[in-house]
Amino acid sequence: MSWIKRLPLLKNIVQYAFRCRLLGLIGLVWVNIPGYAGGTEPIVIATDHVALVYEAADNGRLYQVHFGERLDDQREYGKNQWRREAYIASGLDNLLEPAIRVIHGDKNPSLELLYVDHKTGAIDKNVGLTTITLKDPVYDLYVKLNFKTFSSENVIETWTEIRHNETSPVTLTAFASSMLHLNAKSYWLTQFHGAWFGEMNVAESKLTSGIKVIDSKLGTKATIFQSPNFIISLDNPGSEQYGQCIAGTLGWSGNFKLAFEQDEQNSLRIISGINSFASDYQLRQGQTFQTPAFVFTFSNKGAGLASRNLKRWGLNYGVLDGKRDRLTLLNNWEATFFDFDERKLTRLISDASQLGLDLFLLDDGWFGNKYPRDNDGSSLGDWEVNKKKLPHGLRYLSKEASGKGIKFGIWIEPEMVNPKSELYEKHPDWVLRLPNRKEDVSRNQLVLDLANPEVQDFIYATLTGLLQDNPGIGYIKWDCNRMMSSQYSPFLKDDQSHLFIEYARGLYTLLERFRKKYPSLPMMLCSSGGGRVDYGALRYFTEFWPSDNTNAFDRIFIQWGYSFFFPASTVCSHVTSAGNQSIKFKTDVAMSGKLGFDLMLDHLNDHERLFCKNAIKEYKRISDVIWYGDLFRLVSPYETEHAVTLSVDSTKNHAILFVYNLHPRHNDFNKAVRLEGLNAQTLYQVDEINLFPGTKTQFALSATYSGDYLMKVGIPVTSNEPLSSHVFELKSIKQE
Ligand code: DGJ
Repeated sequence: MSWIKRLPLLKNIVQYAFRCRLLGLIGLVWVNIPGYAGGTEPIVIATDHVALVYEAADNGRLYQVHFGERLDDQREYGKNQWRREAYIASGLDNLLEPAIRVIHGDKNPSLELLYVDHKTGAIDKNVGLTTITLKDPVYDLYVKLNFKTFSSENVIETWTEIRHNETSPVTLTAFASSMLHLNAKSYWLTQFHGAWFGEMNVAESKLTSGIKVIDSKLGTKATIFQSPNFIISLDNPGSEQYGQCIAGTLGWSGNFKLAFEQDEQNSLRIISGINSFASDYQLRQGQTFQTPAFVFTFSNKGAGLASRNLKRWGLNYGVLDGKRDRLTLLNNWEATFFDFDERKLTRLISDASQLGLDLFLLDDGWFGNKYPRDNDGSSLGDWEVNKKKLPHGLRYLSKEASGKGIKFGIWIEPEMVNPKSELYEKHPDWVLRLPNRKEDVSRNQLVLDLANPEVQDFIYATLTGLLQDNPGIGYIKWDCNRMMSSQYSPFLKDDQSHLFIEYARGLYTLLERFRKKYPSLPMMLCSSGGGRVDYGALRYFTEFWPSDNTNAFDRIFIQWGYSFFFPASTVCSHVTSAGNQSIKFKTDVAMSGKLGFDLMLDHLNDHERLFCKNAIKEYKRISDVIWYGDLFRLVSPYETEHAVTLSVDSTKNHAILFVYNLHPRHNDFNKAVRLEGLNAQTLYQVDEINLFPGTKTQFALSATYSGDYLMKVGIPVTSNEPLSSHVFELKSIKQE
């Protein structure tokens, strides 16, 4: 007797189990029937090496039958006896965390999603799109699961669309972008958490039975507690080089939720999407609710390959102008804070040009007249140049810059307003605030109500006006320095539970509109440091400010964390006066990201100035390898007193090795570091570069090494000198 014929019997068992309150157990067995005959052929969503496979069963439901390495013969996917329902709805037989929960107009809180159809097509040679449509058999409600595959990057982007034709609005109380299932012996979660001044700490823990949630309820995400990125390693703790893992990142600049739930059969469901906390969403007839994209990859060679996959996708698809060169810059925030005038700034512009930098970035403090921005107590919202500090305006500064052969950029924090500002006096109704309570200021400021199209129009007009009046502005730093509190939008009236979602959507609408007019103006994404670093925002930004902590020692850890998900060209890294390390150490650390400076250069002595000038030149020579190459994290600062990374260009002919020694003990002997990602047959010349003037390399390296030797034996490049650093260049040597 086939399993299909046994279904009525199974139904009786389920009904009996209901009565005996055993449904939890049986509900899981129901989707785990050995040899279950599929209703459709496997729906294979595959890249070059990764496959996610679904199958609709005879009961009409859609099941995930595979996620992991791609099989040679796709007919075999259906043989997998382990399967889980693809996008589990709440209200019927599911008793664990659902992907979706709805309350229909008649207050019925149930949903069943049955397969309707699917379509697969190619967008181009590398990108494919599969959509699977599901529908409730009782209610006129549809869920469409979308999957974009990026073949050579081995990345899948997935998002969900929910729509209905019911006469009354349907309330959505859970609406995941993605639900993925894994089947392993054990699961190790690597999360990336932090706070202001200490972003992207890497922490790993073994998941146990039950649910682990990583989420944000900050609204604007002005600083990080958790970041929307994770790695799940299967069967063993995570490793850079070995083992299976999945790495995922959610492209959403608002509240998010990543839930990892391990069931009693040791399967794991991963649910990623907008946080539904305080966000019940009334979906009207005919309206579509589209979730943000969850982007993920699978690796059978540890976290190293997973992050290289994601970053390659980031460069090719995820980040605005990912392949375009970035500008090195001098920023004046830590150099001057609010204390500057035209004289000081023209001096900095001239210094930036002499050093060979590409851009001068004028930070906070250039605006406000009725209330001059001399500290953080006033003026946000009054985006007119402060005539006292800058009597000749921004045009004068941008002309100064172009006269010196460099570009000019400005800081702006357009989503915010100080109560002490003309904007607030004119539009107190534009801020988020509870009607019957005191306003809640943070950094003396309030959040503008971006759900309100009038506010979006104002910000759009401010930005475009500034750029039209000052055509010399060639770069923007967009800041956002506080989280959302007093979560009430005067504009949304009865739909207050839409606020978190409509704020983030309002931000994207604004950025979309701005990018239509200024498609390629380089723009830095900042939110009190790295508060808002995600691939949702990076569609509109070319780079981001990772942290206000510019101490190079701390930065090694912060940049290490970002390096799992974001290309080096997006990680702005500035040399500042913070920290007691040498200028060489600070510069070597900053050079592994997108190099910039933020200090009064007359605080440097002649040797230091010369070093910086040479370093900038050197950086420009090798930045292609750093920005676009594949990164290999070789020695972890979390496990040793060193950090070593290698960036290898796509031809494998050119590579840059960064070595940082933290606080090694005396007997921390210089052991060989084995390199990765090179061509075994290629002969490489290895040179230490970026030496401080008047110093020589201390490493007695041989003239040449084969890639084979470098990867199997390695070279001794660390030292026990605290807070020291070395940069090595590897170039292939043409062999006869
Ligand atoms: C916070 C940012 O992270 C800093 O870099 C700086 O721009 C300040 N805001 C300015 O207020």
